[in-house]
Amino acid sequence: MKSFASDNYSGIHPEVFEAIQRANNQHQISYGDDFFTQEANRIFEEIFGKVEVLYTFNGTGANVTCLKCCTLPFQAVVCSEFAHILADECGAPTQSIGCSLLPLKTPNGKLTPELIKPLLNRIGNVHNTQPKVISISQSTELGTVYSLNELKTLCDFAHANNMYVHLDGARISNAVASLGVSLKEATVECGIDIMSFGGTKNGLMIGEAILIFNDELKVNAPYFHKQTAQLFSKNRFIATQFTALLTNDLWHRMANHANKMAQLLYTKVSQLPGVHVTRSVDANAVFVIIPVHTIQPLRSKYPFYEWDAETHEQRWMCSYDTTEEEVNSFANALKELL
Ligand SMILES: Cc1ncc(COP(=O)(O)O)c(C=O)c1O
Repeated sequence: MKSFASDNYSGIHPEVFEAIQRANNQHQISYGDDFFTQEANRIFEEIFGKVEVLYTFNGTGANVTCLKCCTLPFQAVVCSEFAHILADECGAPTQSIGCSLLPLKTPNGKLTPELIKPLLNRIGNVHNTQPKVISISQSTELGTVYSLNELKTLCDFAHANNMYVHLDGARISNAVASLGVSLKEATVECGIDIMSFGGTKNGLMIGEAILIFNDELKVNAPYFHKQTAQLFSKNRFIATQFTALLTNDLWHRMANHANKMAQLLYTKVSQLPGVHVTRSVDANAVFVIIPVHTIQPLRSKYPFYEWDAETHEQRWMCSYDTTEEEVNSFANALKELL
């Protein structure tokens, strides 16, 4: 079965698989003090500069640990109404951190200073939770990508108001490939304080990396990492996958391919009568509204999810292993149904 359901439906890239096997031949020190973790940390430092790296099992765990590093229980995280931390983590951040989330309406999934400004009135009012973190996803849950300018503006605004910026980077590789800049330019150089670097959606078997750039947030991070149950005793098996991902630009090759497949899909379907592409296709997602009678038969050929049950908006995701043939076959199947 191949699908357009999610980029976490795909398997493990062979170069990542090989890296896991390389780490499997010997005994190594546990809890991240091993050769393979040090190797991955060194590569992260070469790419991003001075950074504290912690590895997690999944994206939800990475977000919870990041937000734990940034907040006290009476503080709040500003996010989009579509944010994974709000909509798709079963309340994990609020449950395990104690802070609250302040969601804002974001038609294209992106936060701006203008949208956030009204929340500044809460600051200093003892009856209100205190905005302390702006959490963004890059690329966003709607497949849109913040420009460098938008990121810098948001980070400057946050810092001027004594807030941190957390970046949910489950799909950071797709966003950066789309922007055509370096990982460093798109993150720490824009002023991001703390982020997750996604692996699972870009060819890893398991794991995300937390990257902490702000020195203040590094102090307690290892303890929060352990408390949030994300410290893997056999950490080398997560870390070595990142070595593979960051070697010979594998992250870019895979993300760029997934993005190209989304562009191809967009080109193939956008001109079809009855198809309405609803969001800007900036990375590896295509959002569409198609006639209701076509949804089930198309989904039986290639699974995908409905994004909005009210409007019947559908989400089609491309992966590093999506092929041109699959895109053509999917688009042709839709054309026939139409
Ligand atoms: C934007 C975003 N953040 C984080 C995650 C992490 O999810 P998980 O905990 O399933 O790895 C996802 C997965 O769908 C996501 O889309």
